[in-house]
Amino acid sequence: MDIFCCLLPMPDAAPAIFLGLCLAFLFLFYKFFSSKQDVRARNLPQGSVGWPLLGETLAFLSPHRSNSLGIFLQDHCSRYGKVFKSHLFGSPTIVSCDHELNAFVLQNEERLFGASYPKPMLGILGKYSLLVVSGDLHKKLRSVAVNFVTASKSTSEFHLCVERLSVSMLESWKGRDQVAFCKEAKMFALSLMVKTLLSIEPEDPRARKILADFLTYMKGFVSLPLYIPGTPYAMAVKARARLSSTVREIIEERRRSSSSSNVVGLRKGDFMDVILGKEGLNEEEMVSIVLDILLGGYETTATLMALIVFFLAHEPASLLQLREEHQAIRRKKGRGEPLNAEDYKQMEYTDDVICEALRCGNVVKFVHRRALQDIEFKGLTIPSGWKVFPVFIGTHLDPNLHENPMKFDPSRWKDKAMNKKVMPFGGGLRLCPGAELARLIIAFFLHHLVLSFRWKTKPDDFPVAYPYVEFKRDLVLEIEPTETHS
Ligand code: HEM
Repeated sequence: MDIFCCLLPMPDAAPAIFLGLCLAFLFLFYKFFSSKQDVRARNLPQGSVGWPLLGETLAFLSPHRSNSLGIFLQDHCSRYGKVFKSHLFGSPTIVSCDHELNAFVLQNEERLFGASYPKPMLGILGKYSLLVVSGDLHKKLRSVAVNFVTASKSTSEFHLCVERLSVSMLESWKGRDQVAFCKEAKMFALSLMVKTLLSIEPEDPRARKILADFLTYMKGFVSLPLYIPGTPYAMAVKARARLSSTVREIIEERRRSSSSSNVVGLRKGDFMDVILGKEGLNEEEMVSIVLDILLGGYETTATLMALIVFFLAHEPASLLQLREEHQAIRRKKGRGEPLNAEDYKQMEYTDDVICEALRCGNVVKFVHRRALQDIEFKGLTIPSGWKVFPVFIGTHLDPNLHENPMKFDPSRWKDKAMNKKVMPFGGGLRLCPGAELARLIIAFFLHHLVLSFRWKTKPDDFPVAYPYVEFKRDLVLEIEPTETHS
């Protein structure tokens, strides 16, 4: 008998087939509900999932003052607690404003949780970005970034470069009564990075081109991921491609001149030389790490500079104390004598100001992670595959952790335990490698700023989390030289 005959339904088999279908249906019905009960039994945090597909993404991204929680977090935390479930960027998500859970998530990177930025962001970041890669590749590329920071922060050339750029920015303010600070800070931070990494001088047209491309690139991060010509997303993908080819051209230039001049590399003494000399990095990885350092180093540093300037304008007592610290440092030095590592050690109050601006201003609002397995934490279940967002702003402004949390008060940093209650630079395997560098750059810049100028902000200007921070009116300052500078 043909084997297929056995499988053909016989007329007298109809009742059996009907019964079989009923049983199959009952089985699926049972599986569906038992899995639902499973999820409920697993004690998921409370929360809501919002609209189909979109979930609560738009409400979560809705702009708010970066020194406040914003309506979404305020509303959800008071309704569901500091840890709640939601549906964001197309995935079921656990949102955490709980400091302990945030620390637990970041400390368990690659064991229980992994970085998980939304797919459209990968189109902008590129497949070798540090934010995307994991395991050995992450370790290899991260070591290049750590190497850059260690090499830069301790050299007097780098210190001089920070001071030279600070002084030249402030010199250009002479005779003006207004400056758009955000724009100036971005140009300052980018000039510093491109000079240190690639030996490109601020007046080089390539510096402006890189800045313009980075600004377009940043806008794509918080846009709808529609690859249609003219959309911010499509423009960001193109800007990244242009940035890559700019860096690629520089690599090619150095390789060409090294082979034609028979010298080992066109040594410029910058970090590109170090990257070119590294073994085991292919060209795409080299380009990607340069862009990661530029992206990580310039936008965040410029934003923090703007936040500090903003907060100090509203806290004259803090500004006065900061100015006194820098006057004391300057008094011990000869006219025009450059700052050094010893001076930096004296800048204790400056460091408190920087830390407080990081806590209040929230340069990075949250990071993206995914649970690699089912995880139990304080009786709550985080199901495998769900996204987890450690939201730093939630803990930085938590009244249970910080007295009067909305107040910008650098003196709270006298308590050394403060360091354990904030995480503006993330933590664990992905802790920001540039944290120390950013602090040093800003401390040196502040030295010159507070000795040279007083400033006021516009009444309707403030930092907004989009979620990346921008000022409503580009932080236009009314400036006036100090007595010593006029
Ligand atoms: C105010 C200044 C800065 C802030 C607030 C900041 C914040 C952060 C945060 C929160 C992360 C962790 C991202 C995650 O866990 O997914 C990070 C990573 C990173 N940052 Fe920064 N950053 C700053 C300055 C810098 C500077 C100056 C550089 C470079 C010179 C830099 C380079 C990087 C890089 C390369 C990473 C990826 C690290 C990794 O995945 O291993 N950052 N930063």
